[in-house]
Amino acid sequence: MSKRKHLKIGLFGFGTVGSALFELINTIRPEGVEIKRICVRNLAKARNVNAEFTDNPDDIFNDPEINIIVELIDDANASYSLITRALRQGLTAVSGNKKMLAEHLPDLIALQRETGGTLLYDASACGSIPVIRNLEEYYDNDLLISVKGILNGSSNYILTKIFKEHMPYDRALKLAQEAGFAESNPSLDVDGWDALSKLVIIAVHAFGLYVEPARIFTFGISRLSDADIRFANEKERRIKLVGHVEKLPDGRLCMAVLPQLLTTEKYIYGVDDEFNGVVIKGLCYDKQFMFGRGAGGFPTGSAILSDITASQYDYRYEYKKIQSENIPEFTNNVAFRIYYRYCDPADLNLINFDSISEKYTSDSYSYVVGITTLAELHRVAAQLRKRNVFLAAYPKT
Ligand SMILES: NC(=O)c1ccc[n+]([C@@H]2O[C@H](COP(=O)([O-])OP(=O)(O)OC[C@H]3O[C@@H](n4cnc5c(N)ncnc54)[C@H](OP(=O)(O)O)[C@@H]3O)[C@@H](O)[C@H]2O)c1
Repeated sequence: MSKRKHLKIGLFGFGTVGSALFELINTIRPEGVEIKRICVRNLAKARNVNAEFTDNPDDIFNDPEINIIVELIDDANASYSLITRALRQGLTAVSGNKKMLAEHLPDLIALQRETGGTLLYDASACGSIPVIRNLEEYYDNDLLISVKGILNGSSNYILTKIFKEHMPYDRALKLAQEAGFAESNPSLDVDGWDALSKLVIIAVHAFGLYVEPARIFTFGISRLSDADIRFANEKERRIKLVGHVEKLPDGRLCMAVLPQLLTTEKYIYGVDDEFNGVVIKGLCYDKQFMFGRGAGGFPTGSAILSDITASQYDYRYEYKKIQSENIPEFTNNVAFRIYYRYCDPADLNLINFDSISEKYTSDSYSYVVGITTLAELHRVAAQLRKRNVFLAAYPKT
């Protein structure tokens, strides 16, 4: 006899991912999975599907037949109330909302323990790539050295259009939005916030360490200029927005999201368009590489569906690493070689460099290559974001 539970879903959100999930379930008809009711923000919108819609969450939470909540809305605060309400009712919840998860994971882990409810969120980091479940189940904390990757499909799509097709930034962003890769608020993608949220979630499952997003240096691609593209091309490198969490020789962990000037040898150099790529480095196996579609309705919907069907067999994250006694400490005290481009000469003084190895000055812009620390970059992060400057990690190899 099958132990598979019959699931009646209360779905929140019918945008890019919610509508793709609906179509996916109606096309492949997974055994024992049905969508009972859908809650949206605006009932007046035409949906052109045969389904029961509401704009009142109570219609879902008070329906005794609904035994799983799938939350695919674009509002992190509302998402948190829905997920905590579901867990308090002892329901299984599935979410794709990385911003909400990155801000509230410790509370949500505690709430799952307290209520016995289950929360799954594999789609929240890297869309269709099963990064979270793999890190949670397979990679032993002691052997793991780093997890690095292209975690945001939309900014990667934009960078690909810029570097391979020489498209202007604004046009590339518009195309990403039209294709459904971009978040409703593009700053989440291009300024690195979306990748930051994913990195926070990844670090919990990779190393058992939760770090508040505000402690992590984050810088995006929205200030990328022709000068920066020219610099990358001259050095035969490509700029990618990279999130990384890495164990240092002293056992502490550093984390950051920032553009990186990559050499052709790097696995993620060739990760193009809306694809994501994650490189997992460990003591005995050197590097492993996971690659796939990180955004878009159907790829993300497929990861959501995989969480739904896993819950039919009572799958839950065990959070073994976060309960370990040897959770590494977080630090920003790590040296970084960076390329830093600025237009106003005063902006050179924003960052204290330990040393500068290359300097270029012209009437319209200048740059330096130098060594500084993540702590120093984090100290001036808010100012950097307001200025017409761009920076990228520029590792020797
Ligand atoms: N798009 C992707 O590629 C992708 C990838 C991974 C994860 N995600 C995550 O998946 C979630 C959904 O993304 P999306 O791209 O599908 O968003 P979207 O296209 O903007 O759709 C958002 C949906 O949420 C509904 N909504 C907003 N607030 C609501 C509320 N308080 N109650 C009920 N419904 C509400 C909206 O209703 P109306 O239709 O009435 O406006 C809309 O249907 C987000 O957390 C996002 O970060 C997206």
